[in-house]
Amino acid sequence: MSKRPIIIDTDPGIDDALAIAIALFSEELDVKLITTVAGNVSLENVTLNTLRLLHFFGKDVPVAKGAAEPLIVEFVDASNVHGKTGMEGYDFPEPKQELLLEEHAVNAMRRVIMESPEPVTLVPIATLTNIALLFAMYPEVKTNIREIVMMGGSATRGNKGVMSEFNIATDPEAAQMVFQCGLPIVMAGLDVGLKALVLPEDSEEIKKMNKTGDMAYHLFKRYRGGSFGTGLKMYDSCAIAYLLCPELFEVVETYVGVELHGTMTAGCTVVDLRGYLHKEPNAKVCMDIDGEKFRAWFKEAISKCN
Ligand code: BDR
Ligand code: CA
Repeated sequence: MSKRPIIIDTDPGIDDALAIAIALFSEELDVKLITTVAGNVSLENVTLNTLRLLHFFGKDVPVAKGAAEPLIVEFVDASNVHGKTGMEGYDFPEPKQELLLEEHAVNAMRRVIMESPEPVTLVPIATLTNIALLFAMYPEVKTNIREIVMMGGSATRGNKGVMSEFNIATDPEAAQMVFQCGLPIVMAGLDVGLKALVLPEDSEEIKKMNKTGDMAYHLFKRYRGGSFGTGLKMYDSCAIAYLLCPELFEVVETYVGVELHGTMTAGCTVVDLRGYLHKEPNAKVCMDIDGEKFRAWFKEAISKCN
């Protein structure tokens, strides 16, 4: 069976680092390109982190640097959760600079998509600025995209605002453009991310598995996305889990819009579960996940890394 070609758009970020690891070592996925976008921390830092991770994993995947700021709203990072540089708590090797393309992320995505013999799956696990720019600049890419499987949004509560999730709220206009793009979309948002927990006993197991596990353990100790003691939320790994193990999820097909001008809710995904808006479904929304099975899947996936 040929591997499924994917492009990961990311902002590492501790949970991004683990999602990238799982994708890189999966026998079913072919990571053609990694693009970076300002989000958890600055564009410079997320790009350096990506290049450090690839050196650490010993994987030569090309990296392209994308948007440094959202389309319209002011950029506010999440260094309060991920630390100033985004991946504090582990002594990584030097960034592997030779993997960094000169092309902008949007141009690199276009090239990789148009050259691929098989339709490519986009896996954004960060704010959607690069993907929105890609569709605005090169709408022809849509003919060779299989689907978009993203981490972002929420059908219930938020983690940035009362109702808004970080990746969407960081660039709501971009997210709205992506939800309106007409391609098949899977949204693995907070509804599942909050239940995709790595418990302390899992972290102890993971630590002994291999060098990725040891790295994860040390990052987890510093990560404030949840707490080490009560369970760390592996938001971004949910998008990869959906690609590899969709049976973990309960999914509803519905319409999703992004609130752009709310006075208290700007940046939230409006998931129209009851059809009030009378619009055609534009996304499959992951509403629930089997947390126990996710933990087992996650540990198994990390055990396959180096
Ligand atoms: C999302 O925001 C980021 O901080 C995480 O990496 C994840 O992509 C969760 O809301
Ligand atoms: Ca992320």
